Amino acid sequence: MEPINLNDYEILAQTRMDPTAWDFYQGGSDDEVTLRANRTAFERIRLRPRMLVDVSNLELSTTVLGTPVSMPVIVAPTAYQCMAHPEGECATAQGVGMARTLMTASTFATRSVEEIANAASGPLWFQLYTYRTPELSEMVIRRAEAAGYRAIVLTADLPRLGNRERDIRNNFVLPPHLQLANFAGIDLDDYIAVPYNLTWDSLDWLRTITSLPILVKGILTAEDAQIALDRGVSGIIVSNHGGRQLDTALTGIEALPEIVEAVAGRCEVYVDGGIRRGTDVLKALALGARAVMVGRPILWGLAVNGAEGVHHVLE
Ligand code: LAC
Repeated sequence: MEPINLNDYEILAQTRMDPTAWDFYQGGSDDEVTLRANRTAFERIRLRPRMLVDVSNLELSTTVLGTPVSMPVIVAPTAYQCMAHPEGECATAQGVGMARTLMTASTFATRSVEEIANAASGPLWFQLYTYRTPELSEMVIRRAEAAGYRAIVLTADLPRLGNRERDIRNNFVLPPHLQLANFAGIDLDDYIAVPYNLTWDSLDWLRTITSLPILVKGILTAEDAQIALDRGVSGIIVSNHGGRQLDTALTGIEALPEIVEAVAGRCEVYVDGGIRRGTDVLKALALGARAVMVGRPILWGLAVNGAEGVHHVLE
């Protein structure tokens, strides 16, 4: 099968991947209600098309925190990409560069911030998990700054790991031939067992560590958007972590309107979760998002055809 859409990539990717790794990528928390809702929420929204508008010239490019990108679609952070392809995050960075958009590299990447930056031809953001040892977070932030990353994305919705029953059943662990490349040689606690010391004060702490723009990812209410704004963020990513954290939480696209209203233009607002079609992107933009983020489809493209697959998925 020659993949012509993201659903095709999903089917092909499963055939290329170890079932335990596949479950890790695909799974959600508890009963996966929110995971499924991320798709159905988009399908429920109906467009109100207007006719006889001149569409002979189409321009998709935009900016994200001032950085030009070819389309209002940027790449969400996802962990452990070497499970999908031997080149992992480096191949993703190449594919994203070919599509002339932006990649967010995960703290839990299987290639280091430096390796990803060397492979990348486009702009990068760095997704941050904070640790009980702030020196570790500071160390990776310093390295991301030195490697040219343009913003820090603080994930707010993982104070503890969600209850992912596929992974429990599979006894999922990072395959032994792979490593958390940003922490090579450092004896990390089994991160999934450790409750992070993550609160709103973490944003203030982060501000003292870096002068890069800070985005907060995982916000689902107007109340939290207001607090994030008060703490000086440059961007809010409306997200339920791909249905992998609190099951039965709102979907991003459902939460987006109240957050856009609360923010009232004071920072950029992004949304992720279930974006699979151009019409999904259109719905998100119509509801006030600056751009959308895609996660799993990038992993599918990576598993099927490395950098070219990532490029094709984005195109
Ligand atoms: C996950 C974390 C690592 O969702 O972001 O798997």
